[in-house]
Amino acid sequence: MTPGVTVVDHPLIRVKMTRIRDVGTSSEKFRARLAEVASLLLFEATRDLATRAENIRTPLAPFEGAALVRPVIIAPILRAGLGISEGMLRILPDATVAHIGMKRDEETHRPVPYYFNPPPNLAEADVIVADPMLATGHSASATIDLLKKAGAKSIRLVCCVSCNEGLTQMRTAHPDVPIFTAAVDPTLNERAYIVPGLGDAGDRYFGTL
Ligand code: URA
Repeated sequence: MTPGVTVVDHPLIRVKMTRIRDVGTSSEKFRARLAEVASLLLFEATRDLATRAENIRTPLAPFEGAALVRPVIIAPILRAGLGISEGMLRILPDATVAHIGMKRDEETHRPVPYYFNPPPNLAEADVIVADPMLATGHSASATIDLLKKAGAKSIRLVCCVSCNEGLTQMRTAHPDVPIFTAAVDPTLNERAYIVPGLGDAGDRYFGTL
């Protein structure tokens, strides 16, 4: 496997991803399973976050617990990234959110940012870019360009389905950004959809099929 890429291979993720991929799954169930997979992926993607001691008292005794050293920012790429940011916020409710809108330039077929609203503490935070699909990798790369220009220093990317083309693009453009994915699928079709994939993640999440 490509260095810097973690395929989070877990029975629960495989089972939930099967429901997410299934064309017969309703938007309601798609949303629920996507949020669950996002929580599980985040668990792995945050394994190395630094903690400091926090002294508290249990009802019975003093106890040295832990608190995160740095703030966490979730950066969903609109619109499908909203689907996984929801699941991430469930287990990291203190995180703040940097929304990033990317649209496709119809001539160059490259992503162009149309919305970027990061919190002011990008440089001090661990930033988690969230997009269910890593297809060509161009949106994720452009998003990370923006985040770095705005000061972000610690960035990781979480996606549900990736493919070799997107992984190679990302690792070439941003070798410092670790990638966490639930699956690496074999191909991209002529419309840049991952195959077998799960279809259009935004349409399936928002019911706009
Ligand atoms: N975006 C999607 O929603 N699906 C893909 O397969 C590729 C990009």
